[in-house]
Amino acid sequence: MSGFICRVSNNLVKEKVLNSLELLRYQDDDSTGIIFASTKGCHRYRVVGDISDLRKEIPEDVDGHVAMAHTRWSTYAKQIVEKVYPICSENRLVAVIVHGLIDNILTIKRRLERQGYKFETTSANEVVANLIDFYVQEGGSKLTYLQSLNKAVHYLEGSYALTALFIGEGDRIYFAKKETAMVIVKTDDSFVITNDFNAVVQESRLYYYPLDGAIGYISKDDLFVFDRDLERITSQFTKATITEQELELGHYPHYMLKEIEESPRVVRRLINQYFDGNKYRFDNALIDRIMEADNIVFIAAGTSYNAALVGQRYLRSFNKKVDVFIASEWIYYPYQSGDNPLYILISQSGETSDVLKCMRIIRSYGGEILAITNTEVSTLFQSADYRLLLHAGPEISVASTKAYIAQITLLSLLYARLLNKVTTIAALEKVINALNEMIERRHEIEKIASMIKNSRDVFFLGRGFDYDLAIEAQLKLKETTYIHSEAYAGGEILHGPLALIDDKTPVIVFLSDNSTVSAMREVIVHIKDRGANVIIVSAEPFTLPEDNFGLVTLVKSYHSPILFAVFGQYLAYYIAVGLGRNVDRPRGLNKSVQDANGK
Ligand code: AGP
Repeated sequence: MSGFICRVSNNLVKEKVLNSLELLRYQDDDSTGIIFASTKGCHRYRVVGDISDLRKEIPEDVDGHVAMAHTRWSTYAKQIVEKVYPICSENRLVAVIVHGLIDNILTIKRRLERQGYKFETTSANEVVANLIDFYVQEGGSKLTYLQSLNKAVHYLEGSYALTALFIGEGDRIYFAKKETAMVIVKTDDSFVITNDFNAVVQESRLYYYPLDGAIGYISKDDLFVFDRDLERITSQFTKATITEQELELGHYPHYMLKEIEESPRVVRRLINQYFDGNKYRFDNALIDRIMEADNIVFIAAGTSYNAALVGQRYLRSFNKKVDVFIASEWIYYPYQSGDNPLYILISQSGETSDVLKCMRIIRSYGGEILAITNTEVSTLFQSADYRLLLHAGPEISVASTKAYIAQITLLSLLYARLLNKVTTIAALEKVINALNEMIERRHEIEKIASMIKNSRDVFFLGRGFDYDLAIEAQLKLKETTYIHSEAYAGGEILHGPLALIDDKTPVIVFLSDNSTVSAMREVIVHIKDRGANVIIVSAEPFTLPEDNFGLVTLVKSYHSPILFAVFGQYLAYYIAVGLGRNVDRPRGLNKSVQDANGK
């Protein structure tokens, strides 16, 4: 898991680059590096540690107008300083940062070894740096750095976001991009290349999204983009529609709380976006494509996968096959049925690497993709055949909250459009009221949180839509509080897991799905017999006086995941605060999860 930031500026860059690095870092970053360049030479600083450690390494008098920096949390191995990015080539001609997965790295390495190159580490970055070094040496004065880089890039197979700085040059940073997150941002005084727009969005909204196959460089005055034949491509910056307010924490102690409480506005925004007062505003070509598909295949990860479970329930009512897959599973067992599938890839960030790998596999079949994402500046959004934006605004807390609300709301709007059912809009208005009720009553949830915060295990149960939201609620609790939690389909708890439940185990049961409520009440009797601490969260008209939380505002059962997800989000939030967790940056998780090998 890692982030990079490269900046070429009219002004000194150290503080701005380090600030961006702060925005890119995770909780436990264990390797951080920076290289400053000027026409007089380069200075590189690297630590096995985080940005505060890196700051201590950088002498006061070192700064520059050009810098390339990287931060990383290594999921799989102990770090050593030689492996910390940026990596320099053996002859110190070039420094690189490469994200992605180069498939032919061993072949390249062997070829370079035959040319006499020696390697200090097993890092793919070192191989790429030496490959570029090789072409610079081979080309001598006959090739420009751009031409040498292009030769090296032609040799790479796989996906990559590559940035490079030539040590003897010092006023440009080069890039090459294929199927890996990279965005170029223009600020008042600089050009910036990064994998995550959020690293600079507070400074500028002007972005350029290089297409796959693009190669080029930034200088202090301009961006130069070329195709692989080195023909210059026009590059226009687009203004992202993000407001200042969306980025600021305001009076909230944490982004997670702020984002939970944005949920009524998120639903309202989606209604306005996809309904014009009389009719839905979805592209007809997309609607036709969904209706003619014989298999709808949802693919996603984490919270987005949990939203896809609800989407699956919506779309199953059309007489066609609907499947939902975990992205990292589907990659190894790609499955579809029928001759005419449509793939719906859901991703808040649009950059989750497993989702993007699925996208590539689908592309290689010639399959068509509908992307549902919150991030227009993302690989998924830019590459899909059909696109729907979630309009939830930037989600800064690592734990996803408002994006889940937006995903289900959008899926329900799409479902309503497919049915041509305008009454869904009135039903969503009720959802907004119910969300406001939930926000007003948050202190009741806080009390439940304080009751269970010292538990070792927590179980969540539900049937139907309530089961889908139970899965999301347990994930939210796990990732933000580190308490072990499980979600079970209401009836399934009786098939073994009941053995784990004793009088110390809180069992949170959601009751809002009208077709399953009475069956679920029967299960509750069994669990109570085990002495479990059952906490019942119900919705009218299913609430009984003894329930622990009864939502008064009436909503349709098919919208209940939106509401009770917010219950689960508050619960996780208050427990995390109560336990002193790092709420917005929980351990072991990143806003967009990259490969398990840390790239
Ligand atoms: C964060 O709360 C989530 N738990 C995490 O699982 C996330 O949903 C997952 O990594 C997928 O992210 P994406 O939606 O950006 O693809």
